[in-house]
Amino acid sequence: MSIEFQPYDIIKDTDMTQPIDFNQRNKLKSVDRAFKAEITNIIRLTDMEKLFQIRIVDDAERQRFTFLPGQFVMLQVPGYGEVPISISSSPSAKGHIELCIRKAGVVTNVLHNARRGAKVGIRGPFGTHFPMVQMHGSDVLLIAGGLGLAPLRAPMFYVIENRVSFKDVHILYGTRQPDQLLFRYQYEEWSLIDDINLQIIVERPDATWAGRVGLITKLLDNITIHPEKTYAIVCGPPVMFKFVCGRLNQMGLPMHRMFVSLERRMHCGMGKCCRCNIGSTYTCIDGPVFDYWSVMNLKEAI
Ligand SMILES: Cc1cc2nc3c(=O)[nH]c(=O)nc-3n(C[C@H](O)[C@H](O)[C@H](O)COP(=O)(O)OP(=O)(O)OC[C@H]3O[C@@H](n4cnc5c(N)ncnc54)[C@H](O)[C@@H]3O)c2cc1C
Ligand code: FES
Repeated sequence: MSIEFQPYDIIKDTDMTQPIDFNQRNKLKSVDRAFKAEITNIIRLTDMEKLFQIRIVDDAERQRFTFLPGQFVMLQVPGYGEVPISISSSPSAKGHIELCIRKAGVVTNVLHNARRGAKVGIRGPFGTHFPMVQMHGSDVLLIAGGLGLAPLRAPMFYVIENRVSFKDVHILYGTRQPDQLLFRYQYEEWSLIDDINLQIIVERPDATWAGRVGLITKLLDNITIHPEKTYAIVCGPPVMFKFVCGRLNQMGLPMHRMFVSLERRMHCGMGKCCRCNIGSTYTCIDGPVFDYWSVMNLKEAI
């Protein structure tokens, strides 16, 4: 069943003349607006995930919309609700943003039935980001498990587009089964990029799979870590953080040089509703990106 969205008028006109720093709590509290947007393209990635290309309708707003790798938007589906989704495209691409969305429940199911041209709303971008500039001059490990490739894709684009600013670059990706691998059409392109070590592994191979088999930590076996000049970004289910970050730490990488994205149930995305907090930490504004040392010191974070 395909659902046509009706145009809606809940979007407020706001002053767009001042740039907004969404990482500033005090400024955030006074900002609450949505951009009118439309779905311009939908790419089926697996049975459960689709990539949505989304364009802010107003030319000037679209040009001004910027984000940093690791940030997320609140995506509004009129009549159904709003969901937090990581921005999965290159921060340098101005025409549209890409969101890789898994069919999980009410709102995401409606999105999976939507067609090109469907009207949506976007609030944000929200949250903290991966410190890409701080990583310049270092080796970088970009590690994703399952749907974790969605939030990892923006920092990946950043590294690929600024390849000379980084030393050794490793992209490690793992899923349970081959049919769960996301963005398969891009692997060849990524592996052809000068000096990027792309490795993919699955836990349960099928008859079509000729690649590596095992847990994602196995991909770390052949990698040498220079603790003082390496950073890692790890995205995936929280259980993966324990294994991957634990292993990286055993290999000598300090916890403050590893960054993860923590996803909690969110409602406002901007520090107002208290739905996402872990103690006094709000994952929507103090996160979702944290260094692993901070995560280890957050009780019940993972
Ligand atoms: C910062 C952030 C970034 C995210 N990025 C992505 C992304 O790039 N792609 C993507 O597919 N999903 C992402 N998610 C998860 C996504 O927001 C949820 O899957 C979505 O809100 C479910 O909404 P729904 O109405 O379809 O499901 P509901 O009907 O509300 O719930 C269905 C199921 O989804 C679970 N669920 C609801 N919210 C979350 C959540 N925040 N995290 C995990 N499970 C949840 C519920 O527990 C329930 O089991 C992100 C979440 C956060 C907080
Ligand atoms: S989602 Fe509302 S406070 Fe974080």
